[in-house]
Amino acid sequence: MPTILAIESSCDETAAAVVCDRQILSSVVSSQIQTHALFGGVVPEIAARQHVEMINPAIAEAYRESGKTWAEIDGIAVTTAPGLIGSLMIGVTAAKTLAMLHKKPLIAIHHLEGHICSALLAEPTLEPPFLCLLVSGGHSSIILVKDYTDYQVMGKTRDDAAGEAFDKVARLLGLGYPGGPVIDKISSSGNPKAYKLPQGRIPDSPYDSSFSGLKTAVLRLTQKLSPNGEELPIADIAASFQETVALALATRTIKCAIAHNLSTIVAVGGVAANSALRSRLVTMSAENNIRAIFPPLSLCTDNAAMIACAGAIHLSRGETSSMNIATRSRLNLEDCQSLYI
Ligand code: KG4
Ligand code: ZN
Repeated sequence: MPTILAIESSCDETAAAVVCDRQILSSVVSSQIQTHALFGGVVPEIAARQHVEMINPAIAEAYRESGKTWAEIDGIAVTTAPGLIGSLMIGVTAAKTLAMLHKKPLIAIHHLEGHICSALLAEPTLEPPFLCLLVSGGHSSIILVKDYTDYQVMGKTRDDAAGEAFDKVARLLGLGYPGGPVIDKISSSGNPKAYKLPQGRIPDSPYDSSFSGLKTAVLRLTQKLSPNGEELPIADIAASFQETVALALATRTIKCAIAHNLSTIVAVGGVAANSALRSRLVTMSAENNIRAIFPPLSLCTDNAAMIACAGAIHLSRGETSSMNIATRSRLNLEDCQSLYI
């Protein structure tokens, strides 16, 4: 496998990494979470400005830490879609400059393919086919990984992504941003069965989700429990919400794996760190003789090592991108081959 230097800047993390043979030689992630927390969510204009400040130090550190020389690096991979346009452009401009300067091929990567590849880094014996539950601040998808670079999206959210639901519910409970980790923490002292909430099923689409109804149900519940500003049983509400999301996602994933005869599932993206989701997936996988793989949190949240891994796969297939490649805020995963010449 080739040695790849990769850049990721699609949202609020500025990241650079060097990966060789599914081995992470360096992985630098500079998070902007504290800045955006002041606004209760990611502010695109601020994100782009921070990427400008952080990108060169991140690349320099990843290069130095890897112990490789430019002569030993075979290609430059970069997330080009989907994501915040201003943010993507900073990473792509840096990658094009490095590729030109050091005469290396440029490999454009679809951000979701990167997330899928985080499982390959976490578990070196993992090979397709497998089923991937990808749950993050921007996505909630169930993806059939038929082969390397061959994907079929089996289910997605009709409205809010899973992480978005965590963030919005945390905001309405007054718990701050990002919502996932704080809901996870506070739920450990709550009763997950305290309140029954809707799982957001979509009729005739067994693997799709809808989380906006769940968020509204939590809002109604808080209004009902505290019509005159009485203190809310926050831990019980958080735990019931978390359990509902965990059960909904785990049930849909396992059902899909069984229907397609897949013996391995992986869970990636920031929400895959959730303790209730992990424990549901572990139990339900074991009951159905399915192997469940969870990359460590450092690989679940946005990072450039996963982008480098995807870059290595494409480069070893002879797939490289044009120096004129444009960033795209949206691109279906199934269309990721359009990124290559
Ligand atoms: O993958 P990620 O870092 O960024 C995106 O690509 O979106 O995911 C961030 C999301 C946030 O919405 C955050 O609230 C959620 O992941 N998250 C969690 C947990 N840790 C992070 N959600 C639930 N439980 C957690 N423990
Ligand atoms: Zn992501």
